[in-house]
Amino acid sequence: MAIERTLSIIKPDGVERNLIGSILKRFEDAGLKVAAARLSHLSQQEAEGFYAVHSERPFFGELVEFMTRSPVFISVLEGENAILRNREIMGATNPAEAAEGTIRKDFAKSIGENTVHGSDGPDTARDEIAYFFPSSQVYGG
Ligand code: CMP
Repeated sequence: MAIERTLSIIKPDGVERNLIGSILKRFEDAGLKVAAARLSHLSQQEAEGFYAVHSERPFFGELVEFMTRSPVFISVLEGENAILRNREIMGATNPAEAAEGTIRKDFAKSIGENTVHGSDGPDTARDEIAYFFPSSQVYGG
């Protein structure tokens, strides 16, 4: 199986509730390694750029407002099948549909405040990692 990298964000609702350690533990227990990480209070421009693919969606304004409300914890996770593995650990976007034992089932309040983001495929992972981290700040391997 391939070693992949994926971008993970612990969103404002997760950081505000002091869940960084609990969430990282789930990734580490599943064999994913943190290859880069930082806390960041996103500007409106950064959040709009990151979610540009959703700019025409009715929830875009609400999404940007939420993501800029307070700091987020951004990381690169590395491991076998990291993109899919991370998505399995997170659970469905809508916590009402998330499987038992997933981060969103256990911690998320709503589809808007759903605690974590993870890249949805190889192309997005590459672009999202590059959006936040120059390659010199990713320590995988
Ligand atoms: P995320 O995986 O970060 O990618 C886009 C985000 O948009 C998604 O998680 C949700 O937080 C948010 N989102 C998706 N659908 C809705 C919706 N119907 N209402 C509000 N926010 C949404």
